[in-house]
Amino acid sequence: MPQAIISAQQLTQTIQLNNKALTILNHIQLDIFAGEQVAITGRSGSGKSTLLGILATLDQPSSGEVWICGQAAHQLNEEARAQVRLENIGFVFQSFQLLPHLSALENVMLPLRLQKNFDYKQAEQQALYWLKRVGLQRQAEQTPKVLSGGEQQRVAIARALIASPKIIFADEPTGNLDGQTADEIETLLFELNRELGTTLILVTHDPKLAEKCQRHFLLVDGELSEVSSGQVETQVEAKT
Ligand SMILES: Nc1ncnc2c1ncn2[C@@H]1O[C@H](COP(=O)(O)OP(=O)(O)OP(=O)(O)O)[C@@H](O)[C@H]1O
Ligand SMILES: [Mg+2]
Repeated sequence: MPQAIISAQQLTQTIQLNNKALTILNHIQLDIFAGEQVAITGRSGSGKSTLLGILATLDQPSSGEVWICGQAAHQLNEEARAQVRLENIGFVFQSFQLLPHLSALENVMLPLRLQKNFDYKQAEQQALYWLKRVGLQRQAEQTPKVLSGGEQQRVAIARALIASPKIIFADEPTGNLDGQTADEIETLLFELNRELGTTLILVTHDPKLAEKCQRHFLLVDGELSEVSSGQVETQVEAKT
C-alpha cells in the first residue's frame, strides 16, 4: 500500500468561546494518496475551511496528527511548516487573501519570491503565463481593489499554481465565478491533476464538482465521513 501524501489521525480542533469549549473538528481520520482528486462538502459552518487550513499546515490542531508528504506537521514549528508549504502546497483561500498594494502580477509572483533561486524576469514570465491560463492577462497590472470578485479569485488560483505544488488545496475555488469561467477553472485544475499528478483537495458547495472528483467526503458538525461512489449513484438514481 503506498504511503498517503496527507494523513490525519484523530484530528480534533476545539476552541474556547465564552468560556465554553466548542468542538469544530471531532477525531477526524483521513488518508489521501498522491494524485487523487478529493471533494469535501458540508453545510456552512460545518468546519470545512478549518479542516483545510489544518491539513495545509496553516493552522495547528488542538490534538491529533497531520502527516504531509511524510512529515509530521503537528510537531513542526511555524517556520518548518512554512517550508513544507513552500515545497509542496498551493492554497486558494475562500477569501482570496491577495495583498492589496501589489498588482495581480506581483501577487501571482509571491510564492516564487520566497524560493532560494528567485529570478525576477523568469518569475514575471511565469506569472504572466499563469495569469493567461486563468484568462487575466489584461489585468496583470491592476491591484485587487479594482478587480471583480471572480477576477480576484482567479488571481488567487494563479498564485496557488505558479510554483507547481504537489498538492493544491482550494476552498470554494469556483464560488464567485460565472458558469463558463467556473468550468474553465475546473478544467484547468483537473488538467493539472492528470498531466502533473497534482493532488487536488477541493471544498465546494457544488454537487456537480464534487461528483467529478474520485473521492467525496462529507463534513457534518465536525465529523467526516466518506461518501462512496455507490452512494452517490444511488442518490442520483433515487432522484431520477
Ligand atoms: N477562530 C474562531 N473563533 C470562533 N469560532 C470559530 C473560529 N474559527 C471557526 N469558528 C467556527 O467554527 C465553525 C466552522 O467554521 P468554518 O469556517 O470551518 O466553516 P465552513 O464549513 O468552512 O463554512 P462555510 O461553508 O460558510 O465557509 C463555525 O461555526 C465558525 O463560526
Ligand atoms: Mg469555509
